[in-house]
Amino acid sequence: MGSVIAVSSGKGGTGKSTVTAGLGAALCRLGKKVLLMDMDEGLRCLDLLLGVSQKSLFDVSDILNGNCNAAQAVLQVSGYSGLYVLTAPVKIGTLDSVEAMRFLCEKFSDIFDFVIIDCPAGIDRGFYMAASTAKNALVVATPDPVSMRDAAIIDGLLEKSGVTKRRLVLNKILTRPMIDGTLPNIDEMIDGTGIQLIAAIPTDNSVVLAGAQGKVIEHSIAADAFDRLAMRLLNIHVPLPNLRKIT
Ligand SMILES: Nc1ncnc2c1ncn2[C@@H]1O[C@H](COP(=O)(O)OP(=O)(O)O)[C@@H](O)[C@H]1O
Ligand SMILES: [Mg+2]
Repeated sequence: MGSVIAVSSGKGGTGKSTVTAGLGAALCRLGKKVLLMDMDEGLRCLDLLLGVSQKSLFDVSDILNGNCNAAQAVLQVSGYSGLYVLTAPVKIGTLDSVEAMRFLCEKFSDIFDFVIIDCPAGIDRGFYMAASTAKNALVVATPDPVSMRDAAIIDGLLEKSGVTKRRLVLNKILTRPMIDGTLPNIDEMIDGTGIQLIAAIPTDNSVVLAGAQGKVIEHSIAADAFDRLAMRLLNIHVPLPNLRKIT
């Protein structure tokens, strides 16, 4: 049975959708079959980030309401035969049954090696809906005090929701200010969030460019960091990227 992973953070803009897309592609490059489930109701974005928005006719609520079957709603990413996207509803409040979402994720985890849920920002209904569906979570934080505090809060809420395995993804690493003390460094982020670190993703303009063009993040220092995250999730021992070589 595949694992269901929620990608979360209290703060918006930390890179949840970017990590969902980058990690999904990296797992796919390692031969895994991956479904990326956008649960950011009203503010979906994975379809645009991965260039499948033109093909999108149905969303996750259509499956739950019986308007289509799962195969009609799940979209394959170009060039990645094992990477699929399921979009979030445009209308807010459409996903209202935790039991139905849990059931759907269980069905998908029979078919996919990984189901990765892109959570909305904040700690309202949408977050709880996503958190109640997963047993594993990645908490995405950027190196700054606000993100650090929000990540610690989210970690506690995830634990209360029954998410047993939680790991920190430190995104938008800026080496120099993290070394000179302008921004919290990696140890301070781990101590401040209280979450075990699994990945450090550098700030990399190619991430912004890939997203704007609807392309998978590939052949860049961020892509290398996503490959390392994917391997670490698969229990393959690889170190974090060498931060002194970044920016
Ligand atoms: N590692 C990174 N390097 C550079 N830009 C990034 C990185 N991660 C995310 N971004 C940019 O930050 C913005 C917010 O990212 P996004 O994934 O949409 O955040 P969230 O889903 O948490 O709101 C986007 O413009 C994205 O391209
Ligand atoms: Mg997002």
